[in-house]
Amino acid sequence: MTFIGLDLGTSSLKAILINDHQEILAEHAVPLSVQRKHDGWSEQDPQSWCDAAVEALSALSSAADCSAVRGIGLSGHMHGATLVGADDRSLRPCMLWNDTRSHRQATEMDADPQFREITGNIVFPGFTAPKVEWVRQNEPETFKQTAKILLPKDFLRLFLTGEHVSEMSDAAGTSWLDTGQRDWSTALLSACALSRDHMPALVEGAAASGTLRAGLAATLGLPQCIIAGGAGDNAAAAIGAGVVRDGTAFLSLGTSGVLFAANAGYRPDPASAVHTFCHALPDTWHQMGVILAATDALEWLCRLTGQTAAALTQDLGPVRAPGKTLFLPYLGGERTPHNDAAIRGQFLHLEHATDAKEAARAVLQGVSYAFADCKAALAQTGTTLNRALALGGGTKSRHWTQMLASTLDITLDVPRDGDFGAALGAARLGMMASTGAGPEIATQPPLDHSVDPDPTLVPAMAEGHDRYQHAYSVLKDL
Ligand code: XUL
Repeated sequence: MTFIGLDLGTSSLKAILINDHQEILAEHAVPLSVQRKHDGWSEQDPQSWCDAAVEALSALSSAADCSAVRGIGLSGHMHGATLVGADDRSLRPCMLWNDTRSHRQATEMDADPQFREITGNIVFPGFTAPKVEWVRQNEPETFKQTAKILLPKDFLRLFLTGEHVSEMSDAAGTSWLDTGQRDWSTALLSACALSRDHMPALVEGAAASGTLRAGLAATLGLPQCIIAGGAGDNAAAAIGAGVVRDGTAFLSLGTSGVLFAANAGYRPDPASAVHTFCHALPDTWHQMGVILAATDALEWLCRLTGQTAAALTQDLGPVRAPGKTLFLPYLGGERTPHNDAAIRGQFLHLEHATDAKEAARAVLQGVSYAFADCKAALAQTGTTLNRALALGGGTKSRHWTQMLASTLDITLDVPRDGDFGAALGAARLGMMASTGAGPEIATQPPLDHSVDPDPTLVPAMAEGHDRYQHAYSVLKDL
């Protein structure tokens, strides 16, 4: 028996094929592009996801024998608003998780106490509901034609199965879910001029949501296998990394940055700007601090300097106490802990000697401080972390993981292969849904190495973090 994980990421769609020992037999990635027509806007064409899925699945079935595939699990970037007409076609480009144009709508919704009470979260501008409200106000014709509102990976599911289905972890990022009860909230939907009819059915992540359409299965060279509920990319990465048990955690250095803690119970604390969502397994939840620009901040510096991330971050030497140069990574606003869509990045204390390397060091350090803010926000909810798995592309830089360990004063465990996280989690959910396997298959990955905080650096990092927080408080209104 084999299983497929499909992870719809912001910059690429990844597909992996695993066997029942969870060994990776084949993989394929297809790049995706993001359109930013105006400051604060971030969109993708939903058709490009379906085309990428066809390309990736066809590549898997040419690279390996896919006749024994039993289940496919889906993972995807969260919060996107994909508006679908009665003919199941998307009506406009999908507004993505880092699209902050609906900050006014989000503030208005957030002022209505029932949103925080029922969802357990702030209504962030990146979440789905305020974006749909923006469409209602600015593109009323499109709103009128909207028959269903789907999250990105659930639009992909519609293409694969013909079914309108979502699952709990991604649904929790819409601002329409009763997160404690794991069901859509009729009250919140009607506050947005919507009803349950606009929403997909809900399943748990490890349950079946449909089967691959016959015609598509034949085209792709796959059996008509089960498609599992799957998960939002962070919950999927947690399943891939075995972060399920209460108190386990990961730090993800991707386009965005996430500090994720698994919880056995529902522990909302919206005032902390920590996100509290359903996990992908029944009766489990998770909390996370989310920063909008992690490797994205480094990519920005790459564009500015014309150098690659690898060139900018190699030869940085050993991690040292932070210098005076300070970088605040708020290039497109920030979620945790500020919930501020309007704030923008800052470079401070530049001098003649500041070269590209020094700037790179400041960017890595600034993102590390933003993670330290997330750790503090989690602590405010009662969740304290001593160690976390380190996942995502940015963890290829030893310098960055060492800097993070000392800035957060926690041990980071770096897996041998940090790249398959969400796709592996999705494949595992596909395996659970199609074979009845339980959560025990979501084991922690083999580690390459662990990074302990350097006690000689921790106090200087804490001091640097204080300066960073002070800079934010002084500059936020400029
Ligand atoms: C989580 C979030 C991001 C996206 C993109 O709330 O917005 O992590 O899921 O990966």
